[in-house]
Amino acid sequence: MLVVSLGGSPSQRSRSGVLLERSKGWLQGQGVEVVSYQVRDFPAEDLLHARFDSPKVLDLLQQIENADGLLIATPVYKASFSGALKTVLDLLPERALAHKVVLPMATGGSIAHMLAVDYALKPVLSALKADELLQGIFAVDSQIAYGEGSAAAKLAPELEQRLNESLELFLGAMARRPRPLDPGLLNDRLLSARWSI
Ligand SMILES: Cc1cc2nc3c(=O)[nH]c(=O)nc-3n(C[C@H](O)[C@H](O)[C@H](O)COP(=O)(O)O)c2cc1C
Repeated sequence: MLVVSLGGSPSQRSRSGVLLERSKGWLQGQGVEVVSYQVRDFPAEDLLHARFDSPKVLDLLQQIENADGLLIATPVYKASFSGALKTVLDLLPERALAHKVVLPMATGGSIAHMLAVDYALKPVLSALKADELLQGIFAVDSQIAYGEGSAAAKLAPELEQRLNESLELFLGAMARRPRPLDPGLLNDRLLSARWSI
């Protein structure tokens, strides 16, 4: 199984990034391959000039095409998701998330905008034809404490539990996705079939 993780924070030190890192570790523990992208890794010129042929964007697109699911996390900026993330999403084709399971997440300074995932991010993911959009996760900054030095960040137990439950659902939804039949296997089955309809 392959998952693409897309971080929407312009900041290097990022609480929404912590959620993605935690999720990545959890999924890897279940044998899932996770490929990570951050908005700040994309050349700003490509994003601001909406270069659809940007190599970094094409690379992201290729990974999404091969992936079973997408983890996407953003800080809440001005009651919505980050503008930097929008510049990346704007460069994806309309059906980029077709057949994908998507788990959206956001962190914010207070609960005032806890619905930003639902009213701002989810409509955009739907426009990209996400197949299964799971219930989003919202965390307030006080629930995520950065570790000192190289120590890992700490999540509030309630958040940690919610995150793990959502990841279980994410994994289950990806496992249930119908898989295309391997053409070689189909050929073998047709050759060995005794009857056909
Ligand atoms: C420019 C800017 C705008 C923000 N706007 C909001 C907001 O409208 N609502 C909110 O709850 N938090 C807001 N915040 C706080 C961030 O959402 C919060 O600190 C978040 O966890 C940052 O995520 P990050 O560490 O991944 O960048 C804002 C922060 C910045 C820098």
